[in-house]
Amino acid sequence: MPAGIEARVAELLQPYAGRPSELIQALHRVQGVLGHLPLEVQKAVARVLGVPPSQVHEVVTFYHFFRTQPVGKHVIRLCLGTACYVRGAGRVLDALREELGVDLGGTSADGLFTLEGVRCLGACGLAPVMMVDEEVYGRLTPGRARDILRGLRRG
Ligand code: FES
Repeated sequence: MPAGIEARVAELLQPYAGRPSELIQALHRVQGVLGHLPLEVQKAVARVLGVPPSQVHEVVTFYHFFRTQPVGKHVIRLCLGTACYVRGAGRVLDALREELGVDLGGTSADGLFTLEGVRCLGACGLAPVMMVDEEVYGRLTPGRARDILRGLRRG
């Protein structure tokens, strides 16, 4: 493990050192600063908190809000919940996949977009819905979803 990462994680997790019950909070803190939680970071977290690395890995892979891969500049969360799905989220997903050249969980080659699927964004009345970063976009069509991405690309 690179010494720099180990030291950085130890520094970030000083308040949680030796406190296994704080694992989730500790992971949030590290991800908030480093952006994602690759294996070497998970091992460093395990060492600082005093929990088995396998337990850290289980938690990271169980919760959808933890990431093991770097994310793009913009994170797209497309709702694949029932209300959105019956109103065409599948076709929107196809358009986003094609536009970005990635599948769910992937980041576009230009590093601009990460595409994620979520269960429900709590805006079912606007179905189908996606969020890009903190912005909510409702009543999507495949064409509108593409236009939104193109607009963001242009900055
Ligand atoms: S099912 Fe999509 S916002 Fe609720």
